[in-house]
Amino acid sequence: MVRATSRFVCQTCGAEAPKWTGRCESCGAWNTLVEEAIEARPKALGGKSGKGRALPFVGLRGERAPAPRLSVGIAELDRVLGGGLVAGSAVLVGGDPGIGKSTLLLQAAARVAASGHGAIYISGEEAIDQVRLRAERLGIAAEPVKLAVATQVGDIAASLADEALPELVVIDSIQTLFVETLDSAPGTVAQVRASAHELIRLAKRRGFALVLIGHVTKEGLIAGPRVLEHMVDTVLYFEGERTHRFRILRAVKNRFGPADEIGVFAMGDEGLAEVPNPSALFLSERGPDASPGASVFAGIEGTRPVLVEIQSLIAPAQPGTPRRAVVGWDAGRLAMVLAVLEARAGISFAGQDVYLNVAGGLRVAEPAADLAAAAALVSSLAGTAVPADAVVFGEIGLSGEIRPVAHTEARLKEAAKLGFKRALAPAPHRAGAAIPRVADIAVRELRHVTELVALLARGDKGRSAHA
Ligand code: TYD
Ligand code: MG
Repeated sequence: MVRATSRFVCQTCGAEAPKWTGRCESCGAWNTLVEEAIEARPKALGGKSGKGRALPFVGLRGERAPAPRLSVGIAELDRVLGGGLVAGSAVLVGGDPGIGKSTLLLQAAARVAASGHGAIYISGEEAIDQVRLRAERLGIAAEPVKLAVATQVGDIAASLADEALPELVVIDSIQTLFVETLDSAPGTVAQVRASAHELIRLAKRRGFALVLIGHVTKEGLIAGPRVLEHMVDTVLYFEGERTHRFRILRAVKNRFGPADEIGVFAMGDEGLAEVPNPSALFLSERGPDASPGASVFAGIEGTRPVLVEIQSLIAPAQPGTPRRAVVGWDAGRLAMVLAVLEARAGISFAGQDVYLNVAGGLRVAEPAADLAAAAALVSSLAGTAVPADAVVFGEIGLSGEIRPVAHTEARLKEAAKLGFKRALAPAPHRAGAAIPRVADIAVRELRHVTELVALLARGDKGRSAHA
């Protein structure tokens, strides 16, 4: 039998196939299979003659050593990491090119170095001069970060072996690295995986925290860092609109802390500044007066409440299929809310273009945003403003019912802190259950979307509805 010497690897999900196909059978992406040579594999373990060591089985209870953590000194980053970097762990920071990954990690390396810990920054993307220029601009050029330019994993491993123990090693970016023993080009799944594997092993052995920067491209031309997600301990995604100042760092996986935690930053002339109070920032561009088509959603991101404005615009459509455009929220969820409003409350959006936008560049994933989106939509269609001092939250079911969501008290407290006086919230489902009282906030309990519509649609055009 002739042994195959190559295989085809999906550059998006890493699935392997013996033959080329136009569409990856595993993840469904088109045109992502790339041919790769099969490298000689090490002899299979535990074969006929393989002798393993007997494992010492232990009970479930026992002493746990808390993971030693290294504070980065940037509170928003520490928070997303679950309290700092864990020694020997690997963190993947993904995000679109130009979003600010290099900036953030250079700032982090500088802080770590400034606090007397060893920090190494290895750039495979930019030349020494470019990194130095950025450091100067960020005002951190004096910090004792050890900087090098490298793309060969062997070089990096050899240099780290000689170094006095570093505590943080940043690799910018994993897509530029390669191991010599593989034929494939840098950036292919095989190279990305092999390079990461080598570095992660080194980090575990020597006990430093490893941060890998990875680019995500929508076209899937370069191996997305998605293939790395199961290899690392923590996956952070840097989100935001490049044209906007705000950047959100989100933990999508974290073995050492809560997932879904976010850190908020603002990109300025001196790099990324922390935003300790995101609600105030997201609402800072709001005018003092209520205007139709806007509502404030009291959301929860990770462990903290965040208020954001949801804006909607309804405009007569050109003949043909009306537009449904959404930024910062799920398009499927918008379609569902529109359908429910239509079927259960008799509000028709037919022949209308619908635009929905979460202000500030935050991406909202919580179902609790349904009611706030519905409020913005109905308000825009009716020309009636949601009161400027009201926050809105609640999940909408297919029959039009408004369902209770978690963390009601935290949402109300955040609203009170920012000076809101009212809330439109789901009525508790269990008889006898009550919405926690939060000082200064009058809660209007809603059970069905028709109640929301009655509240918003009855006001005169251009006037504020009264909850
Ligand atoms: P960068 O960190 O290079 O992004 P990435 O590594 O994710 O590709 O940041 C890119 C953008 O940030 C670039 O367009 C310039 C901008 N920027 C600032 O606005 N202020 C700054 O202080 C710095 C360093 C960059
Ligand atoms: Mg970069």
